[in-house]
Amino acid sequence: PNPSAWQVTKVALDGCFLPRRRDAHKGCHGKVSIIGGDYGMAGAVRLAAEGCLRSGAGLVTVISRPEHQFIISATRPELMFWGCELVDMEVYLKLGWASVLVIGPGLGTNDWGYNLLKAVDLTDKPCVIDADGLNQLKTVPMTGKSWVLTPHPGEAARLLGITTAEVELDRYKAARQLQQKYGGVIVLKGAGTIICDDANCVVAAVGNPGLASGGCGDVLAGIIGGLMAQGFTNFDAAYLGVIIHGEAADIAAVSGERGMLASDLMPYIRQLVNQI
Ligand code: APR
Ligand code: MG
Repeated sequence: PNPSAWQVTKVALDGCFLPRRRDAHKGCHGKVSIIGGDYGMAGAVRLAAEGCLRSGAGLVTVISRPEHQFIISATRPELMFWGCELVDMEVYLKLGWASVLVIGPGLGTNDWGYNLLKAVDLTDKPCVIDADGLNQLKTVPMTGKSWVLTPHPGEAARLLGITTAEVELDRYKAARQLQQKYGGVIVLKGAGTIICDDANCVVAAVGNPGLASGGCGDVLAGIIGGLMAQGFTNFDAAYLGVIIHGEAADIAAVSGERGMLASDLMPYIRQLVNQI
């Protein structure tokens, strides 16, 4: 590894976000579809979708199992919902609506998730692939996509065909290998999250072990998708998204790391994207 490629940062968010135009309308801030939430995992897409809204995206639709409509719409009525049972032509039309796709939170590893990932592959939309979307990437050999992959060390290990311990032994090397193998922007999560593309590599010095609880990763995927939809490049959206997510956790940790919930990040995400 070339040490000069490293940059360990806690960026000042000042200047990253411009004030909204006074004549803005929701169409100015991007449309995102969040895809996933197989049986028993509705919460994953619900959290990703709220992270996306709180990052400032204009319109967010959840695409999930039809059975999940009530829980998602009733607990966050600002979200739109499309229930998908069979993955058919209608899915492609629905995917066409969004400017950015986020796929993976709670997607599962059966045919339903597999077919949805294949449908995403047939679009030319920029996308964020997380969680089971990454676990299924090996069977859906997607290429040439404008994407951000957000593996935790276990998902990174599966993508590389090595052990999690090997990923953790040299996280920089693992991130580079993922980038070479899959292209796009890689976000290798965990304490000291690494963000890299083919030219840049940064380590985000933010966040804390309060984030080590189910759902926090889903929120990050939503934030990154929301920033992409608002016009940031994939790399900047990934980098800023990790900083906002980690700093939100650092603010939330004032009340204690233990017992911190993914939902606790939401008000601070909003606060940080308005730091102008
Ligand atoms: N310090 C800083 N950040 C941390 C720390 C830490 N000690 N621990 C975790 N984080 C951050 C990670 O960097 C990442 O952004 O919290 C987030 C955790 O994300 P995931 O590991 O993806 O966890 P999550 O998605 O919430 O887990 C739910 O989804 O990916 C699947 O298999 C996974 O079952 C799991 C489910
Ligand atoms: Mg995860």
